[in-house]
Amino acid sequence: MKWLKRVSIALVILFLAAQVIRPSMTNPPVDESRTLQAKAQVSPEVYAILERSCNDCHSNKTTWPWYSQVTPISWYLVRHVNQGRRELNVSDWAKYDARRATRKLDEICEQVNRDEMPLKSYLVLHPSANLSDADKKAICDWTNQERARLAAQQTNNQ
Ligand code: HEC
Repeated sequence: MKWLKRVSIALVILFLAAQVIRPSMTNPPVDESRTLQAKAQVSPEVYAILERSCNDCHSNKTTWPWYSQVTPISWYLVRHVNQGRRELNVSDWAKYDARRATRKLDEICEQVNRDEMPLKSYLVLHPSANLSDADKKAICDWTNQERARLAAQQTNNQ
C-alpha cells in the first residue's frame, strides 16, 4: 500500500499547487444607464426573479461564493459566468438593438419553459433559484409585453 500513500501525497501536493492558478473572477463596472432596468420596462417583481435565479451568470453583479476560490471549481464557475454574460447580460442591455433585444426576450422565455435555465449544476447549490410555475409565467408574460412594446416602438419610428 506504499504506492497508494505516495499517490495520495502527490495528489494533495498537486491540488495545493493548483491553487496558485486562479482565473480572474471579475465583476466589471456597471453603468446604471445601460442596464435592463434602465432600458426596458420591467417590474420589480419580475426583476427580483431574474436577480434570484439568473444574475449570478447573466449580469456583472455575480456573487462569488467561497468555494469559487478553490481550484478547479473556480475554472468551472468562471467559464459558466463568462459564457453566460456573453449570451445575455442584464447589466449591459443597451448593447442590444431592438431586433436583438427581441430575440433575447424570446430566448429567456423559451429557456425557462424548457427548464434549461437556470443551469442544473447551479440549482444543486442554489435551491432558492428554482423557478416555480408562477415564476415562469411571470417571466414569459413580461417578455411578451416587452416584445410588444419594442414592436410598437419600431412601428412608430417608421
Ligand atoms: C450558473 C450560471 C447560469 C445561471 C444561473 C443561468 N444561466 Fe443562462 N446561461 C448560462 C450559460 C453558461 C449559457 C451559455 C451556454 C448554454 O446555452 O448552455 C447560458 C445561456 C442562456 C441563454 C441563451 C441561450 C441560447 O441558446 O441562446 C439564455 C436566454 C439564458 N441563459 C437565460 C437564463 C435565464 C432567464 C436564467 C434565470 C432563470 C439563467 N439563464 C440562469 C449560465 C447560466
